[in-house]
Amino acid sequence: MGEQLTWGREYLMVAPDHFRVEYAINPFMDLSTQPDPVTTRAQWDAIIAGIEAAGGAVEVLGQRQDSPDMVYAMNLGLPFQGGPGTVGRTAVLSHMRYAERRNETETAEQWFRDHEFATVSVGAQGVGAHFEAGDAFAWRGDLVVGFGPRTERLALKHLATELDVRVQGLEIVHPGMYHLDLSFCPLDSERAMVCPAAFTEASARQLLDLVPEALVLSEEEAMSFCANSIVIGRTILMPACPDRVRAQLEAWDFEVVIVGVEEFVKGGGAIRCLTNPLDVTLGRDLRTGEAKVVSA
Ligand code: ARG
Repeated sequence: MGEQLTWGREYLMVAPDHFRVEYAINPFMDLSTQPDPVTTRAQWDAIIAGIEAAGGAVEVLGQRQDSPDMVYAMNLGLPFQGGPGTVGRTAVLSHMRYAERRNETETAEQWFRDHEFATVSVGAQGVGAHFEAGDAFAWRGDLVVGFGPRTERLALKHLATELDVRVQGLEIVHPGMYHLDLSFCPLDSERAMVCPAAFTEASARQLLDLVPEALVLSEEEAMSFCANSIVIGRTILMPACPDRVRAQLEAWDFEVVIVGVEEFVKGGGAIRCLTNPLDVTLGRDLRTGEAKVVSA
């Protein structure tokens, strides 16, 4: 059996004070289907309750009025405990693909600085390569990064050098799985959910080679957002879980907890998108000292 993930107990979330579908930058967003504010809030509260019941903790940031997608906190940046020659915490800021989301970074930067993170950008802020943190996970010592729909390939090189880590670059081609966190979910030290249909054939192979025991998702299963889940010890908080996926997770001794987040799915995101882990540790969860990009 795999060891529990060493990270995933502390999260940053954004209060859904101004969540709307105001533009369409992914295939799920439809301006004629707006979230109901009361249900939205109840679903968001239920995520926090689920995290706390599993032994985790949440820090909350208020939402900017001009940034309806800011609730998807995973994209605010990539925070680490530790970092190259800093006060001890580092956050790589996102440089969002779409202008509609770029104001979020300014508020995220302020929050990270107020919480004693040194902030870095992939390339000079504003002119650097696009990077959205929903495309990046620490996994078995490497930084696994999806690129294509949102993050640009060029960002991978910057991430490898800024953080001094090995980046596994995976090319995403599925429009509905536009961030890596829709097709890949680390479960423990050996296991992860993976949907090969999200990637080019070569990248799917590269990812499957990285995962000793993969729970391979069909495209249809992944479109339930089941990979957009978070793992706290052996509890997995999921927006939905097809029966076959549940059977495998339970056989692996995970406790599946479903928290419906249908209102947030209207914006194209679920539980992972709404939460940003603050406890990934450089040097522990990510091996430093071999800055390079591996990409098929
Ligand atoms: N509407 C948001 C966007 O398209 C959803 C972001 C989902 N977040 C995620 N980490 N997958 O940017």
